[in-house]
Amino acid sequence: MLRGVEGKVVLVSGAASGIGAAHVSVFASAGVKVVAGDVQIEKGQSVVANVNIAGGEAIFCELDVTSLAAWESAVAQARETYGRLDFLVNNAGIYMPGSVLEESPESWQRMIDVNQTGVLYGMKAALPALLDAGGGAIVNISSLYGIIGSPGSISYHATKGAVKMMTKGAALEHVKDNIRVNSIHPGQIDTPIIANLTPEADAAIKASIPMGRLGRPEEIAEVSLFLCSDMASYITGAEMRVDGGWCAT
Ligand SMILES: NC(=O)c1ccc[n+]([C@@H]2O[C@H](COP(=O)([O-])OP(=O)(O)OC[C@H]3O[C@@H](n4cnc5c(N)ncnc54)[C@H](O)[C@@H]3O)[C@@H](O)[C@H]2O)c1
Repeated sequence: MLRGVEGKVVLVSGAASGIGAAHVSVFASAGVKVVAGDVQIEKGQSVVANVNIAGGEAIFCELDVTSLAAWESAVAQARETYGRLDFLVNNAGIYMPGSVLEESPESWQRMIDVNQTGVLYGMKAALPALLDAGGGAIVNISSLYGIIGSPGSISYHATKGAVKMMTKGAALEHVKDNIRVNSIHPGQIDTPIIANLTPEADAAIKASIPMGRLGRPEEIAEVSLFLCSDMASYITGAEMRVDGGWCAT
């Protein structure tokens, strides 16, 4: 059992699917109360219902991460329901391919709004509650593509690189407040976001991962839980690569 998580309260964005949904079940299994936010209402409610049936404690709230007011409402729901907020996982994200020459202003702006501004707003809304709680932890889900480059994902690289650096800035802003802020950089994880890969591309990616397989969403959520726990008490501003060895090549 990880020290310092049982009885705490987490807000997870993008909780209706993939890595976010895995956070809801992994955190709830560790005795953390979960506020699960997403724009996909029915799917999010279903994730929460399954966790509650399994004995966890979770509520769903409608959350569009591009709206600061929606974030403030989600934090208020955490405080009203569970009396506090200790952890934030900024997980919601979208992926749209496109090179520098292909990228449209609309697609670029949408990626910035969701992947980058959404993370800023999440931290902005949650930090006052974490300060009130006497401390806490924030985990920002970036990507391996926030560390390494590739052709054809220019706006995704821009936003995920920004998340990595916003994490370090926020970590230093709150290092004296008992609040730790870290980023996770998943490699290729088996979730709906990669469903548009062709079988050939899927095989090529798998071939480039030393472990020879995609990651499971739970393998990201478990690192997140560790980063929130007291076992990670000396870790802040760090970028955790969870990539099956991809970056070691
Ligand atoms: N799957 C991977 O290989 C991989 C790799 C690196 C990083 N990531 C990152 O992990 C995070 C989770 O992605 P995933 O793989 O679970 O994908 P996913 O598509 O399964 O889940 C993303 C979730 O975010 C939600 N979302 C999208 N826009 C939103 C908005 N405006 N407000 C609130 N919620 C919104 C979606 O409804 C969905 O539930 C993302 O930030 C993604 O960039 C994923």
